[in-house]
Amino acid sequence: MEFGFLLVLRVSEKRVAMTKVLIATEKPFAEKAISLIQDVFLNAGFECVYLERYTRREDFLEAIKTSDAVIIRSDIVDRKALSLAENLKLIVRAGAGYDNVDVEAASEKKVVVMNTPGQNSNAVAELAIGLAVYGMRNMFTGASGSELRGRTLGLHGYGYVARNVKRIAEGFGMNVVVFTRYSKQRAESEGLFVTDSLEELYAISDVVSIHVPARGEHLKSVSFEVLRHLKENALLINTARKEVINEDDLINFMRFRPDVKYLADIAPDKAAEFEKCFKGRYFFTPKKIGAQTAEANINAGVAAAGQVVEFFKNGDTTFQVNRG
Ligand code: 3PG
Repeated sequence: MEFGFLLVLRVSEKRVAMTKVLIATEKPFAEKAISLIQDVFLNAGFECVYLERYTRREDFLEAIKTSDAVIIRSDIVDRKALSLAENLKLIVRAGAGYDNVDVEAASEKKVVVMNTPGQNSNAVAELAIGLAVYGMRNMFTGASGSELRGRTLGLHGYGYVARNVKRIAEGFGMNVVVFTRYSKQRAESEGLFVTDSLEELYAISDVVSIHVPARGEHLKSVSFEVLRHLKENALLINTARKEVINEDDLINFMRFRPDVKYLADIAPDKAAEFEKCFKGRYFFTPKKIGAQTAEANINAGVAAAGQVVEFFKNGDTTFQVNRG
């Protein structure tokens, strides 16, 4: 049986007054990020508990019990964890998507939830473009492929990651188009063509890259109705979340459109179906790796640590996502 790695760093003997911060990352930060995070908490006089690479849920539940704040990545903070966390005042998701936190349960307990928007977005954007190259070159099998230059990239959503994808894609000589409900003005002010509908985006793009969060109207928004508009030989890239795809619809669609490929950062629930039916037409990373770079770990981890300190010292809630 494997146990999570638990290290307690005490920065002074004045334990009673200390704010206790748990850094719980099943997928660990790079070493450099850890050392910089540690510096932030040492300077602030906070106590840090590190729970990394843990494999047992019980270890996380035990560790969160006495913490004032917790920094997580894709680690699950559900209603049960919140019910045990009697001292908890703050959850900082070091990253963008906070679908792993039960925000409703946190709000009920008056626990503030924050993310660190934009801090890891370049890493995810680079992966999206990497997947596009991989797909265009027939998964590096050696079969003659195609180039990105001159092709149309459709960005489904226009948040921080998509904006980085746009920057990189333009360097490749791609034409970038967008469908966005919330960042229309920004996209237009950058000279981008914003489509009137998702269907239109899928119809005019050679490569579609998905950049919407796993909540609200985005859940299962990539449906058969949308997919059926895809151009011949289109690539669908998903570095967002599997939950934004209607998997059954994607499977049905790929059955009758053998020209289309799907590449994603993390396997769908029905990965076995893809293996059985779509060999050579899909690729999934073994684990979510979009933000798994030293740079992204440093940016998001240090930002998260800074937000914890600012919250406890100055009441700063700038990045709170559960207001009202
Ligand atoms: C995010 O939402 O920030 C990304 O998906 C990265 O998630 P990770 O921290 O689990 O790698």
